[in-house]
Amino acid sequence: MYAQMIDTGMKRVQGLDEMSAEERTFQERIDAGIKIEAKDWMPDGYRRTLVRQISQHAHSEIVGQLPEGNWVTRAPTLKRKAILLAKIQDEAGHGLYLYSAAETLGVTRDQVYGDLLSGKVKYSSIFNYPTTSWADIGTIGWLVDGAAIMNQIPLCRCSYGPYARAMVRVCKEESFHQRQGYDIVMALACGTIEQRRMAQDALNRWWWPALMMFGPPDGDSVHSAQSAQWKIKLLSNDELRQKFVDQTVPQAEYLGLTVPDPELKWNEDTGHYDFGAIDWQEFRDVVAGNGPCNRDRLRTRVQAWDDGAWFRDGLLAHAQKRAQAQAAAARAA
Ligand SMILES: [Fe+2]
Ligand SMILES: [Fe+2]
Repeated sequence: MYAQMIDTGMKRVQGLDEMSAEERTFQERIDAGIKIEAKDWMPDGYRRTLVRQISQHAHSEIVGQLPEGNWVTRAPTLKRKAILLAKIQDEAGHGLYLYSAAETLGVTRDQVYGDLLSGKVKYSSIFNYPTTSWADIGTIGWLVDGAAIMNQIPLCRCSYGPYARAMVRVCKEESFHQRQGYDIVMALACGTIEQRRMAQDALNRWWWPALMMFGPPDGDSVHSAQSAQWKIKLLSNDELRQKFVDQTVPQAEYLGLTVPDPELKWNEDTGHYDFGAIDWQEFRDVVAGNGPCNRDRLRTRVQAWDDGAWFRDGLLAHAQKRAQAQAAAARAA
């Protein structure tokens, strides 16, 4: 997802009887559905895991702007360009809410951002794939933002107040993103043979990476079980992936497009779609930094940070001058 394979630092999930009095009170509060706020006591592992999860999520929002930014100057109409610009701007806003939520846990934005630029903290694997046609922009909105909603709606109910509240607004905006994407694909699917071919080609390339967004099967992962106990992961990777497939296949059928999976089949007994095996080696390669665009994405972010140095220096100099002027005025008064 926008945060994948989050390490909780725990070797196994603790039972209530093994916890200290503080830890037990904390867990009972979570079990009762009471939100944890920034100034409340929390176990170190909970704090560290949330910093990892929220910062990885924030980085995904910011890096996720890059594949789409590639198409701002090539959007086919002024209306499509204005919509795409608004969508990309929303993603910057999502990054901002999330960096702010991370800061409530005692880290600075510079620290968190430095971890992205040094490659220490990852962002979602999906943003390491290239956008080679206009149909990719529609398909990203439809599939990638659609998958993001699937993951983020449950997070509106997560145990950490600042994260849960940020997700409420993010989800409303993601819903607009998903619709604008579907609208682009719909226009292509109803268009010329060449446009239909573009839409099908984009679906062929994005389908499997979109399914990988939910992360590896997590049935026996200690980290997932711990995150579930802390209510910062509310549905498992496989549950979310299945929900996504069940929702998206009928949408593809409505468009007259074919999902690139010969094993995809409705299962009467389970009431879900069965689907083929995911290439987890490809996922691991992309996460390890060897996807088609990993180096390019990171280089672009580092360049943007370096290019912004003069502006950050100017802001700091201005703030210092102002503080000096205010101190001088206070002395004179
Ligand atoms: Fe977003
Ligand atoms: Fe989005």
